[in-house]
Amino acid sequence: MRFGRIAAFLAVSLAVAGSAPASAHPSPGHDDGSLRAAARGSGVHIGTAVDMAALAADAPYKAAVAREFDTVTPENVMKWEVVEPQPGVYDWAAADQLVDFARRNGQLVRGHTLVWHSQNPAWLTEANYTPAQLRALLKKHIFDEVGHFKGRVWAWDVANEVFNEDGTLRDTIWLRALGPDYIADAFRWAHQADPKTLLFLNDYNNEGVNAKSDAYYALTKKLRAAGVPVQGYGMQGHLALQYNLPGDVLENVRRFDRLGVKTAFTEVDVRMQLPSDTAKVQAQAEGFGLLLRACLIAKNCVSYTVWGFTDKYSWVPGVFEGEGSATPFDENLQPKPAYDTLRETFLLVRR
Ligand code: G3I
Repeated sequence: MRFGRIAAFLAVSLAVAGSAPASAHPSPGHDDGSLRAAARGSGVHIGTAVDMAALAADAPYKAAVAREFDTVTPENVMKWEVVEPQPGVYDWAAADQLVDFARRNGQLVRGHTLVWHSQNPAWLTEANYTPAQLRALLKKHIFDEVGHFKGRVWAWDVANEVFNEDGTLRDTIWLRALGPDYIADAFRWAHQADPKTLLFLNDYNNEGVNAKSDAYYALTKKLRAAGVPVQGYGMQGHLALQYNLPGDVLENVRRFDRLGVKTAFTEVDVRMQLPSDTAKVQAQAEGFGLLLRACLIAKNCVSYTVWGFTDKYSWVPGVFEGEGSATPFDENLQPKPAYDTLRETFLLVRR
């Protein structure tokens, strides 16, 4: 029945006029106009990255996280530099707060991220440690962090951004010190620390079929053939209107379906060169819809997460000069057409 609806579904225009966001306290099962209500029963979780400073200081932001999403990802507070600022000195406070918030609001948590080249603590360098010590540190980090959140984190982005655009492995502290097997080791350690959590690869520019996603396809196949517990393929989904939208996302997601792994869109936003205008806002809505459509049509796509839901706290303007307006809500927490497209898309496809 799902596939019978696809043609009609694809033909539907996803640009819909703005509507008001939902009320703060929906009753279960009732469509209160939120994304969360629209996603219910679709088989795909709807998530957002959460900025913990905003969650603490901004009540409307906090209410919207609870109202609109059934999954949360810490934007920064589970990263190594935050959880272990000094060797052996852990600070789980902010991450625990988010996990508690999620539990109170009936939300799942996506953990982000265990092994990465970025946002590592300043003390973690090749000058300070031998390769054998670095391997022991990575193992301890994964056991300690996954162990700390055991039973409370639904899925982990285990290995983040391990490939270059050309499909070669990224030159990182981990590749240099430990060689390519660090990826398999990270998955094995995470699985040992919490056998029930779902373990994901995760990257950007890997949504369509290209050299990078080919490399992930080959790696996933190889790891699974070797019995390494990789259960998911994460596509961040950081799109930019000036680079066009990838046309072959569904084809890519489907080949990972066939490998038997779950897939997820983990950090979706669609940035644009400012100023915004009506055409860009509509194109942005299509970008959000394109990825959600692929997720809903694919068999094993389990979640769709936006990397921040409001322009008030988006990472984009701080990194890309002259770009922004990348999220489904504006700075005043008012929904844009992208928001309505997400809701409409959920409501059109039921798995
Ligand atoms: O926490 C410090 C704060 O103490 C200090 O006062 C402030 C001064 O600049 O910096 C704060 O740290 C910043 C941190 O975000 C928390 O706000 C860092 O400078 C800043 O670099 C960091 O940026 C994050 C970025 O990852 C780092 O690579 C973004 O918020 C976050 O959205 C972004 O997320 C990544 C994903 O993890 C992986 N995929 C790409 C995505 C976007 O870059």
